[in-house]
Amino acid sequence: MDYVEVVESVREIYDKDQTAKYDFIAQRFFHDFGSYPGFFARAPGRVNIIGEHIDYSGYPVLPMALDRDTIMAVRRTEMRNIVIKNIQRNKFPEATFSLDQKLSDEHVWTNYFVAGYRSVTEEIPVENRVGMLIMVDGDVPIASGLSSSASFTVCAALATLYANNPFGKTSYKEYLPEDHPKAKNMLEDYYVASTRISKIQLAELTTRFERMVGTQCGGMDQTISILAEAGTASFIEFNPIRLEAVPLPSGCTFVIANSLTPSPKVLTIATRYNKRVVECRIAVALIAKAFNLPIFPKTLKEIQEELGRSLEEMIEIVNLHIREEEYTTAMLEETFGTLLIEIVKDIQYSDIVLNNNTSYKPRQRALHVYNEAKRVYEFKNVCQNNGDCERLGRLMTESHNSCRDLYECSSEQLETLIGLAIEGGAIGSRLTGAGWGGCCISLVRNEQLEEMYRKMLKFYENNPLVTDDNVIFSTVPCRGACILESKYFAWAGQ
Ligand code: GLA
Repeated sequence: MDYVEVVESVREIYDKDQTAKYDFIAQRFFHDFGSYPGFFARAPGRVNIIGEHIDYSGYPVLPMALDRDTIMAVRRTEMRNIVIKNIQRNKFPEATFSLDQKLSDEHVWTNYFVAGYRSVTEEIPVENRVGMLIMVDGDVPIASGLSSSASFTVCAALATLYANNPFGKTSYKEYLPEDHPKAKNMLEDYYVASTRISKIQLAELTTRFERMVGTQCGGMDQTISILAEAGTASFIEFNPIRLEAVPLPSGCTFVIANSLTPSPKVLTIATRYNKRVVECRIAVALIAKAFNLPIFPKTLKEIQEELGRSLEEMIEIVNLHIREEEYTTAMLEETFGTLLIEIVKDIQYSDIVLNNNTSYKPRQRALHVYNEAKRVYEFKNVCQNNGDCERLGRLMTESHNSCRDLYECSSEQLETLIGLAIEGGAIGSRLTGAGWGGCCISLVRNEQLEEMYRKMLKFYENNPLVTDDNVIFSTVPCRGACILESKYFAWAGQ
């Protein structure tokens, strides 16, 4: 089993030294809570290189972790609650939770904390859970397709896990050194969860709990945030989760640029993300109906397996059996001989989608998914064989065109930005993450990098809030989430 690591220094985490980032949070922690944190949990954001909107249909994706992350400075406390503060306190007001906190019905930032917290505490009786003081900071741009929410949820899960179960120890007495003043006062019944949670279990749990917040996501973001390896992108397969390292081509660079149009997934689930999840399920049901399957599979991958066809054959089947024009709810209900909700009821919050829409485009969505899956397999093969940048760039551009035309998840600003990247010499460019705003990722030859930046910076001209490195930056694949003990810092022991 592979478990989240506890590292000894900031240098083990990143390419460049980022100790200052941790010192800053520790000082703010001290300022607000009167003592220094006991440890840090950190979980990175990610950029998806190719394979968009296909994880929840069961197909593989190819992301890499960023060197930008959510960091939580944590101290265990004997108070029976959790106090969480954010460095950006105006945007994210402080909150206090009970040790059995439920998700709020309102869309509040702390829901992502609660989702992460609950994902690892189900097995721990409330009376055995510990209180925590937490200071959060992060540099993953929010609602920008770089997985700020998953990095937050994963970080919360990890902070909770480590506070409640210092990885394998069964009691705090055992965990703390004997001469530690706290160890003497430690209550006998302060036992911690004795079962360990592997990285894969953690990815599954955090995905399941993040879905409770609203978005019916696949598992890409949580999986890469937890299991990423430094220096390589990952080909991730699902059910069960498997990862394969994918070397990135040399001689070219991946550049991320922000369209500065945030796309908060949870606020638009009815008409965007969750609607696509429902449309994919409708496509599965239409194919199942056409083949008279007695039981309808759940995903486009499952039905492919059920029919024993190749991806090319699935594309033909979709073209043959699903009409191009939109389907209205009434039309679908007549075809299935049942209410539409019966087809999608196991998808959480699907009632919200059905209540807000009267028509669906299952053919376009399924065509995107099957073609995009083909591109991911090819992209991986090219990277593992000759690393031909031209071919990779073309696959990225094809992926984007499909997201724009078939999945309809691009935006005007993304189109402008991607247009500038191509004009500046990018070999390929595409939206990344859920889309409808957020970031794009471009592949460019190193000798063309400067020219591409020059062109793309036009997008940000006259925007006073912009500094180059927060809107456009290149990245190398970083390692996944980990714990960092405070004892290695200069201020430790104070
Ligand atoms: C979000 C979801 C992922 C994935 C992408 C689109 O990031 O959390 O599971 O579906 O959108 O590829």
